[in-house]
Amino acid sequence: MMWVLFFAAYVPFALAFPYQQPESDSTRISGGSNATIREIPYIVQINVDGSKTSDCDASIISRLWVVSAAHCLSRMRAANVSIRAGTDKFMRGGVVIRASNIYVHPSYSNITQDYDIGLIRLASPLTIGPNIASITLATKKPAVGASAVVSGWGDLDSTSETIPTQLQKVALPVVSDLECPPVYTPRMICAGYRNGSRSPCYGDSGGPLAVRRTLVGVVSHGRDCAGISVYANVANLRSWILSIASI
Ligand SMILES: *[C@@H]1O[C@H](CO)[C@@H](O)[C@H](O)[C@H]1NC(C)=O
Ligand SMILES: *[C@@H]1O[C@H](CO)[C@@H](O)[C@H](O)[C@H]1NC(C)=O
Ligand SMILES: *[C@@H]1O[C@H](CO)[C@@H](O)[C@H](O)[C@H]1NC(C)=O
Ligand SMILES: *[C@@H]1O[C@H](CO)[C@@H](O)[C@H](O)[C@H]1NC(C)=O
Repeated sequence: MMWVLFFAAYVPFALAFPYQQPESDSTRISGGSNATIREIPYIVQINVDGSKTSDCDASIISRLWVVSAAHCLSRMRAANVSIRAGTDKFMRGGVVIRASNIYVHPSYSNITQDYDIGLIRLASPLTIGPNIASITLATKKPAVGASAVVSGWGDLDSTSETIPTQLQKVALPVVSDLECPPVYTPRMICAGYRNGSRSPCYGDSGGPLAVRRTLVGVVSHGRDCAGISVYANVANLRSWILSIASI
């Protein structure tokens, strides 16, 4: 019974909520604040042809590769996917580049969200500049208590279904594995405040969790856009990333 409740409660952050017009005066993600693309030049939006929204985000790891979540990419076909880089506005500005290939980790489980990582190879290279830059992959798990920044254009809370115009960011402490939800594997790391409302939310999936300019996590899943949230553990999955992407 607990098992069922657990899976009903902890859901991926990509669950497509109906698209709504952005609020004009949005100041939080779930407890976050506006960010500029110069602060987070490695974030991109993922767009699927014919979709009115960007369901997921990703991080630039080289001019030709972005990393995102398996639960985002397993539903997508490369022929229908593009990324938008170099903008902090939702679905506006920057540059749009098409995907050439999508790779989902072969061990990904859509039940437990284990190995929730994937890659998009771009059809043409990004031009690096102040608004477009790659982020370094973590080689080891960050220390418990390290301040990590999660960012994205996801909903501002779990109920309003309001998508922000402006990129949002929030700083969260990395927490011990013991504070992760019950289904924990070494491919996961967790961050957040147990009783806090600061968290990624629906639409933030696949985006970065960064400690300074190092990518330590990829937004995976959580509960009600509050409390402890779960990320793919980049340090653990780094060797798979490097086996696919020449970066
Ligand atoms: C955040 O950005 C939105 C959209 O650009 C803007 O309307 C709002 O005033 C900004 N909020 C703050 C606190 O700067
Ligand atoms: C997705 O790509 C396929 C193959 O290129 C194409 O036939 C289809 O129309 C595309 N779907 C959308 C919604 O654009
Ligand atoms: C998981 O993937 C399988 C195989 O693609 C699919 O049949 C199933 O509906 C998926 N389950 C969930 C919870 O998405
Ligand atoms: C959150 O929980 C901690 C520890 O139980 C407590 O000290 C803190 O006051 C709580 N914060 C809020 C906002 O409830």
